[in-house]
Amino acid sequence: MCGGGNGAHALIGTFLMTNDRWKVRAYLPLKDERRRFKDAITSRSTFDVQIGNDAFQGDARRVRVTGDAEEACRARLIAIVVPAFAHRAVLSQISDFLGHEHVVLVLPARSGFEYEIRALGRLGERGGPCVIGFQTLPWACRTNRFGQSVMIYGAKRRVGAASFPNERILGIKDQLSRWLNIPVVPYGSMLELSLANTGQLIHPGIMYASFADRRDEVFPSREEIPLFYTGVDEHAAAVLSAMSDEILAIRMAMEASHPGVHLPKVVHLSRWLHDAYGDAIEDSSSLARMFQTNSGYQGLTVPVTEAPRGYRIDVHARYLTEDLPFGLAVSKGIASIMGIPTPTIDEVITHTSRWIGKEYLVGGKLTGRDVDATRAPQRFGIGDVTGLIA
Ligand code: NAI
Repeated sequence: MCGGGNGAHALIGTFLMTNDRWKVRAYLPLKDERRRFKDAITSRSTFDVQIGNDAFQGDARRVRVTGDAEEACRARLIAIVVPAFAHRAVLSQISDFLGHEHVVLVLPARSGFEYEIRALGRLGERGGPCVIGFQTLPWACRTNRFGQSVMIYGAKRRVGAASFPNERILGIKDQLSRWLNIPVVPYGSMLELSLANTGQLIHPGIMYASFADRRDEVFPSREEIPLFYTGVDEHAAAVLSAMSDEILAIRMAMEASHPGVHLPKVVHLSRWLHDAYGDAIEDSSSLARMFQTNSGYQGLTVPVTEAPRGYRIDVHARYLTEDLPFGLAVSKGIASIMGIPTPTIDEVITHTSRWIGKEYLVGGKLTGRDVDATRAPQRFGIGDVTGLIA
C-alpha cells in the first residue's frame, strides 16, 4: 500500500478489519514521512479505526513500513492512495517490479489516468499488471493520529472501478468488494471513469459558484469557516447541474457517433449522488437539497489556511490543484476532440485556474501554458476520437 495520508490510513484500517491474516506493507517513498510513520505505528500495538460511533482496533504489528519499491511489490495486491499529481512518480518507481500476477488499485484514479498508464510503457501493455482505477475514494476520512488512528466519517454505498485491460475488472470485482468492504461496480472502460469523475464537477464547481467573492475574507474562528457541500444553494446547484449536463453531452455525442461505445455510468450529478449516498440523503427534491441534507457531507467546511487574525480560503487545496488538471481539463480536452461546447465548464476553468496561477484555457481552447501539466488527452498526443477510443 502506497501513501501516508488520510485515504491511506483508512485503507490500512480497512485491510486490517476485513482480512485477519493479511500483512500490509506500507510503501512510503518520502523519507521523512516514512520515518515518522514507522515511529508512530511501532509505538503502539493497535491501529484504531473510528467509523461513526463504531470503533475497531487492528493489529498494528501486521503493518510493516518500507521505502524499497522491490520489497513493496512482493505483495501481489498493490494499492496506491495518493493525490493524482503523485501517480506518475509512484507508478514509475514500482513499474519495473510489476508483472502479470499483480493487481494495482489506484484510489481514486481521477481523470485521464489511462493516458498516464499508456505513457508509462509496459504498464499499459497486455501481459502487464491489471491496473484498476477507482471512480472515487470509498470514504470521507481524516487521519486522527498519524500512523495510529483514522476517522471514517462516511462510506459511499458503492464505488465504481474500471480496469486496464478493460475486461479484468469483471473477474475480480467480488474479491475487491470483500477486501474494501464496499460493493465495487465495474465500469466498461477508463474513458467512462474519466468522464464519470464527479469530483471534477463538485469541487471546482462549488469553489467557483459559492466562494468566488469570498477569497479575501478572513474567518476569525474555526466555527465561522463556511460549510462546503451543505452550503450549496440554488445558484451553486444550477452551475453544478449545467456542468454535469455538458459532460452528459459528451457521452451522448460519443455513443451516437460510435455505436460500439457505451458509457452508461456517466450520469447526471443528481443521479450519482443518489447512487453513491442513497439513504444518507434525506431530501432528494432538488440538487441543492441533496447536498444540504446528505449526512456524509455534514460539517465539512471549505478548505482554509491560517491567516493573520483567523483563516482564509485555501485556493491551493486539492479542490482546484487536483480537480482542474486531473479532472475538468481532461473532460474539456475530450469535449474539444468531440466538438462539444462546454460554456459553463469553460467559465469555471477560466476563473478558478487564475486563482491558482495556472492557465489552461485561452479563448475557450485548451492551449494555455499549463496544459502540459494536466492529463488532458492532447498532452499525450491524442487529438482525435479514434485515439480516445483506442
Ligand atoms: P493526503 O493529502 O492526506 O495524502 C497525501 C499523501 O500522498 C502523502 O502523505 C504522501 O504519502 C503521498 N504523496 C504525496 N506526494 C507524493 C509523492 N510525490 N510520492 C509519493 N507519495 C506522495 O490525501 P488523501 O486525503 O489521502 O487523499 C488521497 C486521494 O483521495 C486524493 O486524490 C483525494 O482528492 C482523494 N479523496 C480523499 C478524500 C478524503 O476524505 N480524504 C475523499 C475523496 C477523495
